[in-house]
Amino acid sequence: MGLALAVAAAAVLVALSATSALAQRPPQPEVLKGPWNDKSLPPDRRADLLMDQMTLDEKITLLHGSGGFENAGVRSNGGAGVVQGIPRLGLPDLQLADSAVGVRSAAARGRYATLLPSTIGEAATWDPKLAYRYGALIGRELRDQQYNVSLGGGMDLMREPRNGRNFEYLGEDPILAGKMAAQFVRGLQSQRVIGDVKHYAFNDQETGRSIGNVRLDKRAMRETDLLAFEIAVTEGQPGMVMCSYNKVNGDWACENSYLLTDVLKKAWGFQGFVISDWGATHSTSKAALAGLDNEESDGRYFGDALKKAVDAGEVPMARINDMVHRILRTEFAAGIVDDPPRGNVVDPFFGAETSQEIAEQASVLLKNAGGQLPLDGAALKSIAVIGSHADTSVLSGGGSAQVDPPGEGPRTPWGGAVWFPSSPLKAICAKAPKAKVVYNEGTDPAAAAAVAKASDVAIVFVNQPTSEGRDVPTLTLPDNQDKLVSAVAAANPHTIVVLETGGPAAMPWIGQASAAIEIWYPGIRGGEALANILFGDVNPSGKLPVSIAGSDADLPHPAIPGLNLIPPRGAQGGERRRMPDFDIDYTEGLKVGYKWFDAEGKEPLFAFGHGLSYTTFAYSDLKAAMGSVSFTVRNTGKREGAEIVQVYAGLPAAAKEPPKRLVAWDKIRLAPGEQKTVTLAIDPKFLSIFNERKDDWELLPGAYTFFAGGASRSTPLSAVVNR
Ligand code: BGC
Repeated sequence: MGLALAVAAAAVLVALSATSALAQRPPQPEVLKGPWNDKSLPPDRRADLLMDQMTLDEKITLLHGSGGFENAGVRSNGGAGVVQGIPRLGLPDLQLADSAVGVRSAAARGRYATLLPSTIGEAATWDPKLAYRYGALIGRELRDQQYNVSLGGGMDLMREPRNGRNFEYLGEDPILAGKMAAQFVRGLQSQRVIGDVKHYAFNDQETGRSIGNVRLDKRAMRETDLLAFEIAVTEGQPGMVMCSYNKVNGDWACENSYLLTDVLKKAWGFQGFVISDWGATHSTSKAALAGLDNEESDGRYFGDALKKAVDAGEVPMARINDMVHRILRTEFAAGIVDDPPRGNVVDPFFGAETSQEIAEQASVLLKNAGGQLPLDGAALKSIAVIGSHADTSVLSGGGSAQVDPPGEGPRTPWGGAVWFPSSPLKAICAKAPKAKVVYNEGTDPAAAAAVAKASDVAIVFVNQPTSEGRDVPTLTLPDNQDKLVSAVAAANPHTIVVLETGGPAAMPWIGQASAAIEIWYPGIRGGEALANILFGDVNPSGKLPVSIAGSDADLPHPAIPGLNLIPPRGAQGGERRRMPDFDIDYTEGLKVGYKWFDAEGKEPLFAFGHGLSYTTFAYSDLKAAMGSVSFTVRNTGKREGAEIVQVYAGLPAAAKEPPKRLVAWDKIRLAPGEQKTVTLAIDPKFLSIFNERKDDWELLPGAYTFFAGGASRSTPLSAVVNR
């Protein structure tokens, strides 16, 4: 065939396949245009104008999902859920994707998503601007992949340090968690994606999460977990709040009118909509009347059953309209109707850079005896790198927050440990090009010790895989890793321990190790970020957003409530035995995290707010008033560094509060010898208590003590202010 003929034939083929593709496209419905398309109108007005056009069936369509992943017959984009839109009115489908630490389930569609450091690491930066960028990156990649709703925003307080989902939450302090969540949501929604916060509320452990009944008084609720959500909702303005699986004081969270209506919608003025966690809806009328707006992931209760409840007069039409209004106004406010995502190639380079920067800020240097770190790459002759697949990879967190690693399909079973290709070993070699670097996998402590003994320094990696769906039974690291560290540290006095954990872990060997650094699950550039810190290219500045207890015995609940009720694996008994319903009594009440250790006079292994730098800082000149605190912080060392300065307040004795609470902080960068005067505003709400009788916050008269310093247990300055 001559060239001209071949080209002509090819052109015909292309034309033919284009026509057949066109022929296969479903007929596009005529889209009704109306005043709701006017972008200059407020979202609430546009929502009402559009709602006027809708039939009851169309309204009901918006109030439930259409099944989870890849449900046949549904226009799914491959995410965890879809709410079908109304094409005749130009209302798009809502494509919902899990995206706690990056967009989930990219692999099945041949896509890529950036794995960020875990959210607990984000909290360890204590930097709301970084939280905004964290959210913005996720928002951008969601949009690139044509999602318009995020299911990220996990922020249950760390009451239970063994909770399997702590890695996707923001630590134990309500103000820190709330402020970081708010900026995360703002960043995410800046990309024209609907954001959410979850799991509302008190889903603070995975053990028995879908049957446990959390019991707690209202004051403790409002001052702890709910305060975190209050800040996130009022300052972050998320489009959605996801209610959780558990019960709270006898009612399921997704049909709990105190949580959903009295507090969220009335007291906080939440204007978005409440969606249930997947399968967390338990009723039709009760849930609808309590304040649930959308059932996920299907329409068991909020589909035909809801329509029947309306027809029967059990759920008033006004409530249905309120639900629909909330959903529509959120869609207009987010910009997803006017500017739907069109799809882009995710930029892996931008993602990796951002991820690395966050990891460098998120790592917490716990111990650094004798200035062991930073290492001098030029001087070292030999380095032993041991354990945790540090030759090739870093760990990530499991469950619905799992991101798929590049180069792999979604093959790991749900909740299994997934390792990402970022090699600490390679990054370490690059920093010490002349050193002999030997890797040992760490499965045999004696062999690892021998390698350590023959090296100038030993860097031993330990890990604690965690996942949604189960807690870790103990703070003790799994797989005999404590033995490994002890053996290595006994063989080499220059042992540096690197922890890749989802939350706090016990460290019985801490006295033996010369240095320890917590890098959490550090994201797609975790190895490179770590090497930059180990060799001093980055001066660490992260601070713990959690307390680290020495052992389980020091925790409010030495054993996780309900853990003893889980039937043994493979248990039979007629039908498979199920865990019985049970109560989770949050007996610690207000004393969450450091407040527990302070109130009980217990010594944590590492205190909330702790984190070392390669330089040192001195505090002086505290001036305190009720509305603001100022003091001077000076870099007294030889390197430039950033210090997260923290202000805590002790309330008047009559308040009956734990000894102190975090009320303000900032991150101050200082050159050697430089000093700055820091002035921090104190929100009066953060000095208040929740008065149950008045159902409101109350600022008591009396003596307030303000403490300033670099950690909750390191506050060199204090001053008393009488109110
Ligand atoms: C999780 C949610 C998640 C949902 C959808 C549930 O099991 O608790 O956090 O968004 O699944 O995947």
